Amino acid sequence: MPADFAPGGRLPPLTDRAGRQYRYLRLSVTDRCNMACVYCMPPEGEAEHALRRDVLSFEQIARLTGVFSQMGIRRVRFTGGEPLIRKHVVDLLAQVHAQSTLDALWLTTNGVRLANLAEPLKAAGLTGVNVSIDSLDPDRFRRLTRGAELAPVLAGINAASAAGLQVKLNTVALRGENEDELGALVDFAWEIGAIPRFIELMPLGEGAALLASHHLPTSAVLARIGARVLPEAGTRDPAAGPAHYYMAADGSGNKVGIIGAISDKFCENCNRIRLTSRGEILACIASRSAMPLKDLMERGQSDAELAWAVHVALQSKRAGHEFELSSGQQHGRGMSLVGG
Ligand code: 5AD
Ligand code: SF4
Repeated sequence: MPADFAPGGRLPPLTDRAGRQYRYLRLSVTDRCNMACVYCMPPEGEAEHALRRDVLSFEQIARLTGVFSQMGIRRVRFTGGEPLIRKHVVDLLAQVHAQSTLDALWLTTNGVRLANLAEPLKAAGLTGVNVSIDSLDPDRFRRLTRGAELAPVLAGINAASAAGLQVKLNTVALRGENEDELGALVDFAWEIGAIPRFIELMPLGEGAALLASHHLPTSAVLARIGARVLPEAGTRDPAAGPAHYYMAADGSGNKVGIIGAISDKFCENCNRIRLTSRGEILACIASRSAMPLKDLMERGQSDAELAWAVHVALQSKRAGHEFELSSGQQHGRGMSLVGG
């Protein structure tokens, strides 16, 4: 082991062979969810959930985020499954906030429990939330989520704005389903001071089976949003993530984010790694193999040894996800397992 990686020494950087530098950690705090979106979960619900003892403890999560922040991670996002169903998640967030030096701490949620938690999350150090909302029509919303109610999600979104959290709304654009609502979703988001974002369906989890019938390319999303935004391709800030932002045509400064994992492959700018709720590092959303950090911690490895293991795992990361080669074939694991 080079001297740099000796315990107490400087930790290795989060870089890979392609020269990509990792600044952003997506952290799944549970693989469970209180919804069952059609493109994510199978109709009967996710077949297997991790046992309690296989899920990272709060102490382990805080330790790992501390190590990662020393290695160069600047932003952390809590994801799931649904992160807000993890017990005492506000305490976990406060602990992560206290034990690492981050520029921003975000959370992706389906919004069901957000109305009550928005204020405490803000107080614990949360910067903002991405709330998934695929329709403003209660019946369609129920169908797409296999039974969830829209009203509590809307209440959660309002509570997040009122608590002073930044709010982004995520919509998976689905051909023949919510495509007629994309403009209305933009108007809704802008009215409440949120940023609407449209995500291209990806062949992950149940998304693979829906791709042939429901895939809507980003060009069609833009056509649906129409004159609300300026037509020029928006700028993408590689440090901020894969979204292209389009500015409102009315000069209000509002924007729309478009995330096209297939139409607009952004792997060369990838700056994110993923930690699953079982404590494995995934170098890519489409990875099948993972580095089991929880096991390493439980075998008594030092922070430097953990950092070294992550550095090594990154060196085998491929140049890209290869979703475009998909013909209904499923890549990697479902979103509830890899953490959105
Ligand atoms: N394709 C695109 N987006 C997906 N999500 C879950 N599964 C898929 C998929 N197959 C999105 C959800 C949510 C976030 C957690 O990930 O809609 O916004
Ligand atoms: Fe739950 Fe998100 Fe998957 Fe929907 S997409 S079932 S909200 S994890």
